Amino acid sequence: MYTSKRIKGDIYYVGVNDRKTERFENMWPIPRGVSYNSYLIMDEKVALIDTVEISFVEQYLKKIETVLKGRSIDYLVVDHIEPDHGGSIRMIKNRFPDITIVGNKKTFDMLDGFFSMECNKLEIKEGDSLTLGKNELQFYTAPMVHWPEVMVTYNATEKVLFSADAFGTWGTLDGGIFDTDINLDHIWDEMRRYYSNIVGKYGNPVQKALSKLSGLDIEVICSTHGPIWTTDIPKVVGKYDTWSKYEPEESGVVIAYGSMYGNTEEMAETIANAISENGVKNIVMHDVSKSHASYIISDIWKYNGLIIGSPTYSNQLFPLVQALLDKIKIRGVKQRVFSYFGSYAWSGATHKYFQQFAEEMKWDVVGIPVEEKLRMNDEKLQECLSLGAAMAEKIKSV
Ligand code: FEO
Repeated sequence: MYTSKRIKGDIYYVGVNDRKTERFENMWPIPRGVSYNSYLIMDEKVALIDTVEISFVEQYLKKIETVLKGRSIDYLVVDHIEPDHGGSIRMIKNRFPDITIVGNKKTFDMLDGFFSMECNKLEIKEGDSLTLGKNELQFYTAPMVHWPEVMVTYNATEKVLFSADAFGTWGTLDGGIFDTDINLDHIWDEMRRYYSNIVGKYGNPVQKALSKLSGLDIEVICSTHGPIWTTDIPKVVGKYDTWSKYEPEESGVVIAYGSMYGNTEEMAETIANAISENGVKNIVMHDVSKSHASYIISDIWKYNGLIIGSPTYSNQLFPLVQALLDKIKIRGVKQRVFSYFGSYAWSGATHKYFQQFAEEMKWDVVGIPVEEKLRMNDEKLQECLSLGAAMAEKIKSV
């Protein structure tokens, strides 16, 4: 039998852990799994906040029943309908047919599209309230803090914010659910990887949401993924503020490269050595054929320096390097201290594409980019060393 945890007052955790799925959104590796968080408020009226991914509905219903103890659910608040949270809406409606679904206009547009089902609806607008008895819920829209219909629910009685994806992270809740009960060492990197890959494109909407929420007195944040935040709220909000402004957290250099036969990799190693010789300790190297792009993107969010290398491949960039550039572009990453290098066998094309990329990103290029033919020689060695030295000098000054 499942046990449930009380969060505060009448609020209970009824979420589930997913240790089965290999890739979130069928793209992003989640070696530490993910939790789909859902919450019950047991007042005169009972409200459920969000649901879980459909594969876990049986376990989910058992958890809910444990808390309900024979009562029914009056309201289902849909803060975010993406199927990792909205997936069990139909099953909840089937189990509690009189339930009223609470959402905004965009929620119901999507609800109709996903489920085409008849149900009681309560359409709320910005700042509307719903009283459950003692607990008063207030609703604030947070469009594009991942999807357009996203809203957050503030329990003004208990000062608890149900924040949808905001402040979430990959990683299951292994026993404890509160930040105070969990060893968070691994969480911060996973949280950045989650943010930068899933929400990273939406920096401006996140800034708007942070500004809107700054007026609320918040003691607990209940996200749809990861720990319940209490004592670490200032740290978590601070990280979201930094990340959504595209500000690096630390001085350091990411070197991401593609290499078929080791020649471009030799350039990467040489540049890395030069950066190190010039006093930089934070150097992270990624072979794009080995590292999943989500880890590279996360490191690009973290550090202020970025050097990308590629061989010329069919007169283009190495395809996995091009895919990385596309991901950076889509997310609109702001200025990084940037440079590049490349190699070719008979006709070089990398500089043209890297320069075009830098212009599109409105990034300045540091040092003199290097392009070599076939393999390293003394002249190219010196150019790689100079590029590394220029990068080291620059990142220390910004
Ligand atoms: Fe966790 Fe945007 O869904």
